[in-house]
Amino acid sequence: MTIIVTGGAGFIGSNFIFYLKKNHPDYRVVAFDALTYAGNRMTLMPLDGCEGFRFVCGDICDPYAVDRLLNEEKPDAIVNFAAESHVDRSIDTPDVFVKTNILGTATLLDACLKHGIARFHQISTDEVYGDLPLDSSTLFTEDTPLRASSPYSASKASADLLVQAYYRTYGLPVTISRSGNNYGAYQFPEKLIPLMIVKALKGETLPVYGDGKNVRDWLYVEDHCRAIDLILHHGTPGEIYNVGAHQEIRNIDLVRMLCQILAIDEARITFVADRKGHDLRYALDAAKLTAQLGWKPKTMFDTGLQKTVDWYLRHRSWWDAILTGAYRTAYEGG
Ligand SMILES: NC(=O)c1ccc[n+]([C@@H]2O[C@H](COP(=O)([O-])OP(=O)(O)OC[C@H]3O[C@@H](n4cnc5c(N)ncnc54)[C@H](O)[C@@H]3O)[C@@H](O)[C@H]2O)c1
Repeated sequence: MTIIVTGGAGFIGSNFIFYLKKNHPDYRVVAFDALTYAGNRMTLMPLDGCEGFRFVCGDICDPYAVDRLLNEEKPDAIVNFAAESHVDRSIDTPDVFVKTNILGTATLLDACLKHGIARFHQISTDEVYGDLPLDSSTLFTEDTPLRASSPYSASKASADLLVQAYYRTYGLPVTISRSGNNYGAYQFPEKLIPLMIVKALKGETLPVYGDGKNVRDWLYVEDHCRAIDLILHHGTPGEIYNVGAHQEIRNIDLVRMLCQILAIDEARITFVADRKGHDLRYALDAAKLTAQLGWKPKTMFDTGLQKTVDWYLRHRSWWDAILTGAYRTAYEGG
């Protein structure tokens, strides 16, 4: 089986590639990534030269590059992780998000139709559902109406609608998964957990938005990868699957947990002006995925957080190269 993983040099995409190579060693896996600021070619370097792995630098918005790739590889499936993924950046530059997340997905869908690809899987987010009140126990189900708040989530919701439209209109075999906030190894240090770890290790203050009471539903990235693998192989075309571990944590509590693990003074936490339109609470009901495909999370938050901190402590050169920009020059021209 040949699988193209778009956005494979990013956080979840690279974890998914490692997961595939470990659990399906006979598969051919092709990473297709434009290497934006968030893409890190160094992450995948351990696989260079391995049989059944190829890296292609390319843009999902470029129909010629995508067409060439599909002609060369004749893949059985495409898993689309490629996206602009940071809410704060979407508030500053929404146009980039519209282009990559919506037009890029449309380009891939057209190519899938043209080449008769047997499965297109779209990686989506719980943020397409909007947010929930802080004091409620309501969960998002797959039937919760889309009510995106940020340019990021609006662009992801638009992409999801396109994916569903290609199923209904053209019969393209698609699936969509919507997960909560992921954490684990190889996450770019602009996102909450690696940002706090890196700032803590550099002796800086730990900036928390607003009053820190916003709640996120955390998912260990390896649990997410296992869910995607299951959906890819056993999911029903046309269906959407929520992927959540029921690990709801307030941002401030998470940062306090990090202070404890890293043995640093909580006085380093500072509260900064809130993010515009900041979503209050996300919480996912993943009962459908459990009932239909037998998926359950294996890693609870405290264990996963400890593992993540350990990884950042052991891989300082990985994130140092990002902070200094050296990760970009490492593969320039390659
Ligand atoms: N990180 C999370 O917590 C989370 C949660 C739910 C859903 N998601 C979704 O999962 C996917 C992956 O997220 P992530 O956190 O790994 O993101 P990331 O920002 O770490 O990685 C995105 C990758 O996509 C690549 N990319 C960007 N534009 C591209 C383009 N035009 N063509 C080809 N490649 C391009 C980047 O170079 C990068 O390698 C995204 O679709 C995101 O919306 C993420």
